[in-house]
Amino acid sequence: MPSIANLPASNNLPSKVATRAKNEDGTPLYPDFMPFYDPLEKVDEIGLFDHQDPGLRADPALPNLLRNATKVYNLSPHVGTEVEGVQLSQLTPEGLNELALFAAQRGALVFRNQNFCDIGFEAQKKIVSHFGPLHVHGWAPHPAAGSAEHMIIYDHKEDLRVRRSWKGRSPIQWHTDQSPELQPPGTTFIGMLESPAAAGGDTLVSSSVQAFRALSPRFRKRLEGLTAIHSNNDGVSQELKNGSNAVMRRQELTAEHPVVRVHPVTGEKALYVNPVYTKRIVGYDQEESDFLLGFLFDHIAKRADFQCRVRYEAGTVLVWDQRVTNHSQTLDYPAGERRHAFRLTPLAEKPIPSMMEEDDGECLKDIGRASLGLC
Ligand SMILES: [Fe+2]
Repeated sequence: MPSIANLPASNNLPSKVATRAKNEDGTPLYPDFMPFYDPLEKVDEIGLFDHQDPGLRADPALPNLLRNATKVYNLSPHVGTEVEGVQLSQLTPEGLNELALFAAQRGALVFRNQNFCDIGFEAQKKIVSHFGPLHVHGWAPHPAAGSAEHMIIYDHKEDLRVRRSWKGRSPIQWHTDQSPELQPPGTTFIGMLESPAAAGGDTLVSSSVQAFRALSPRFRKRLEGLTAIHSNNDGVSQELKNGSNAVMRRQELTAEHPVVRVHPVTGEKALYVNPVYTKRIVGYDQEESDFLLGFLFDHIAKRADFQCRVRYEAGTVLVWDQRVTNHSQTLDYPAGERRHAFRLTPLAEKPIPSMMEEDDGECLKDIGRASLGLC
């Protein structure tokens, strides 16, 4: 009889361990969402627009969002909440306003067993465009069946674009999507179509509000008023090399944003730098900028005390606010397994810079620091 150690990994699984939905013949669960790379497509610049965040119109008691909720629980104290019993596709405009507010407050919201992935491209876009004009990605694929606004996330043995782009470096890369846009994304949706069979492919989410609040008051004042350059130059060249299928549909982007931004609905201050897109602090010499950004990137990456981890099955929808979070993929499941999702990405306001104040009261909101007399 073979020892346990010699059995294939799948045979080690006790029969009661659930695996995630797959077609028996190996075909994708959602063929309409297969990635398509059109070499001739171009994307027009979006230009500046007025953004009135729907969260400003929300009832803070969230009656329309949570009317049918059966359970609401936080994934971690500072970021992430899972909501059971609510179908996103059924929400009224008032419910969507409250969704914007709740996502801003909690950073990330997880909804399972949604029919959102099955209602069609146009209905999906109608819901998500409630939060702002939809971004069209400059080089990532769209669904084979159409819709330029749907960004397809796809990893499979027949399309290793994602794997190749991370070859030889850590796939853990904290970022906010598209921060080099002049008006970067706000309340964003990922619909999970198919996950690796056993586990993996989770999204890591970190609170940028708590990342800022966890710094000493004097250091926070040092950061406020600074701006930084964000560029997607590296991301583009990384995607386009290694025989990738990716096509360049739009010119590279660069923007200058405040290092600390204020959320237009909650008024919370958030650290707005990330190691993927933030290149340098404006007005600092190179070594000074590298040193400061290096510390801030480490701070975001290492502080698991304000992170959460989102696990997906087909039908899970993640709604998160990019203005108050950073996130990372994991890419921890066996190479060749299928992970398939789509993202719809509404753009929001031009980041609002935080203002230095004599005492902004932020320190007293951090009980750990306030209770130790560190304010
Ligand atoms: Fe991302």
